[in-house]
Amino acid sequence: MNVIGEWLWQDLEETTSTNDAVKIWNAELNQPCLVTAKRQSKARGRRGRSWISEEGNLFMSFAYQAQLHQLGHLVILSGLAVWQTVKHFCPEADIKVKWPNDVLAEGGKISGILFERGENDYWIMGIGINVVSHPEKQATGYGTASLFSLGARTDRLCVLKQFIAEWDTLLQRYRVEGFLKLKQSWLDKALNLGQKVKIRQEKEIKEGIFKNLADDGSLWLQSEKGIEKIIVGDLFV
Ligand code: BTN
Repeated sequence: MNVIGEWLWQDLEETTSTNDAVKIWNAELNQPCLVTAKRQSKARGRRGRSWISEEGNLFMSFAYQAQLHQLGHLVILSGLAVWQTVKHFCPEADIKVKWPNDVLAEGGKISGILFERGENDYWIMGIGINVVSHPEKQATGYGTASLFSLGARTDRLCVLKQFIAEWDTLLQRYRVEGFLKLKQSWLDKALNLGQKVKIRQEKEIKEGIFKNLADDGSLWLQSEKGIEKIIVGDLFV
């Protein structure tokens, strides 16, 4: 067992999904912890999609305790931490956060985040960041990007260390300052804010103007029917 930042950490050669591995380890430890892996054989994304796991990219899953009412905030902050990480390595690139927590660099998806429930009060935050390569296509309809394609020459462990520095700082600010200042920081980087968007949900697609982020991390969508709070869905144009 290793320690990185304040996290108990295991770096595996291979697992099905780091989300699975961290769930098992966290249930044994009953403490916050982190699992990374060089390879994932059955990685999953949001809404039943799979996550193509090319070796050299970063796959990491954190288990930590949070109350249900904080979850929407943490979902938003996770995207912000990835944005800051990508910006650190690619300061010149045009990088956006896409609600709820995707990060697009020069219009291509460079990261994906999957929250799942763990045991007791634990939540699992699984993040993939394309470091050295990116898959050709994405089921989401967006292009793809990697730190390498943006010109950065680095490796998954350097990116991991930077992400942890960003994440731990953001969590500390969240505890001290609350969500509202961080919400503004997220909005400053948001894709399609004030524009017409579509939100794909399980049974329907909603259309309207992306007006704002709600104070719980949901999205305010203005349509002819009025203003509606969207809690889950995939945003596209
Ligand atoms: C998405 O954009 O659909 C979310 C993708 C999440 C992928 C990461 S990679 C590390 C962790 N392990 C998984 O099986 N999924 C997440």
